[in-house]
Amino acid sequence: MKLTIDVKNTRNHISDAELDALLRESAVSLETLCAKTGRGNDFLGWLELDHPDKNETDRIKAAAKKIISDSDALVVIGIGGSYLGARAALDFIKSPNYNNMKKDTPDIYFAGNGFSSDGVAQTLSMIGDRDFSINVISKSGTTTEPAVAFRIFREALEKKYGKKEAAKRIYATTDKAKGALKSLADKEGYETFVIPDDVGGRFSVFTPVGYLPLAAAGIDIDDLVSGIKSAYAACKTPDAENPAMKYAAVRNGLYRAGRSVEIFADFEPALRFAAEWWKQLYGESEGKEGKGIFPASVDFTADLHSMGQYIQQGARLMFETFVKVKNSEAEITVPYDEDDGDGLNYLAGRDMTWINHKALEATMQAHLNGDVPNMLITVPDRSARSFGELASFFEVACGISGYMLGVNPFDQPGVEDYKKLMFILLGKPGYN
Ligand code: PA5
Repeated sequence: MKLTIDVKNTRNHISDAELDALLRESAVSLETLCAKTGRGNDFLGWLELDHPDKNETDRIKAAAKKIISDSDALVVIGIGGSYLGARAALDFIKSPNYNNMKKDTPDIYFAGNGFSSDGVAQTLSMIGDRDFSINVISKSGTTTEPAVAFRIFREALEKKYGKKEAAKRIYATTDKAKGALKSLADKEGYETFVIPDDVGGRFSVFTPVGYLPLAAAGIDIDDLVSGIKSAYAACKTPDAENPAMKYAAVRNGLYRAGRSVEIFADFEPALRFAAEWWKQLYGESEGKEGKGIFPASVDFTADLHSMGQYIQQGARLMFETFVKVKNSEAEITVPYDEDDGDGLNYLAGRDMTWINHKALEATMQAHLNGDVPNMLITVPDRSARSFGELASFFEVACGISGYMLGVNPFDQPGVEDYKKLMFILLGKPGYN
């Protein structure tokens, strides 16, 4: 595995003896996870996603090929676990500016992750007269945000192509048998892809949920799988060098020492949605029974000029997890300027990535000096393989960490409450 984790900046808060004990605890939790004997063990299908079903993968690749050939835009409709993984991977591997780049693959628009009418209107207007397709994703098939968006985009698609042709441009990713979306897809003849029963939303990025939009953006599913394989080989082995065990052990140690907020700190705009995905993964998995670390995120260096003040000197509630990308795709150096009016010649010839990494080092040290312990996770690059490694590492670590915390990391009973109250306010039949 090429991902590495460095926990030395937490050693003022966790002694050698404590770390040893925490690692032993995390080994027990890993064993429970892999043996599938713990709470929520009917939602552990994601542990086998390093061996995807070839027929399903081939079908996804064929659908993506068709979308690339007949569409200038793909509207990906979904929320939560049916949205964040694909968005995180697209930004990480391609770019947050993917839609503005010159390319042979369609623009990808994400919809159905809220109720903003302005957001929907803007997406419809950006698509304009261009050819488009829809990938609607919902495991339950009943979530209101994507259902409303799907009705609107489906109407636009049917107006443009007629009902029969539109049906050939709609791909539904949902449960194999139940839910309103599955019934509708069967009735209208949409091509469907299955979200396995035993894979929860936040663990579903390496299923058709993530794979179809990513393949339509030209990302190689096999490269993602090679990253999952390499992460699983390292993260399922119970030894002290296992990075997932180490991460789970240290974050629980810090939590027990009173640090109840974890900040995911990145130095690349391409990681912004990786942080959003991570927040869902850890927030939904651990925030229950009155327990759990609150996951937050910052985009440095921009946020060093805003949130940096609080982190350096505010209430000592938090620790940080820095995520570093070792190699950039672009090499941009600071130009030499004869006049040196801005006094920057001391950086002339320096690569911006070098400067970015120095900023990261300085920030880690400054925050440590300000009594914010931190960890550093490093990935070699922004390749699909690296994304596969990073996301799988976080998933395995999340399972271990949730068991160390003593909760069921694979349910989300609290997510339902607002949905029910909203149904009452909206006047949905059967809710009062
Ligand atoms: O992780 C989860 O279970 C949730 O965030 C769901 O993914 C989210 O509520 C969307 O649900 P669904 O895919 O059923 O539409």
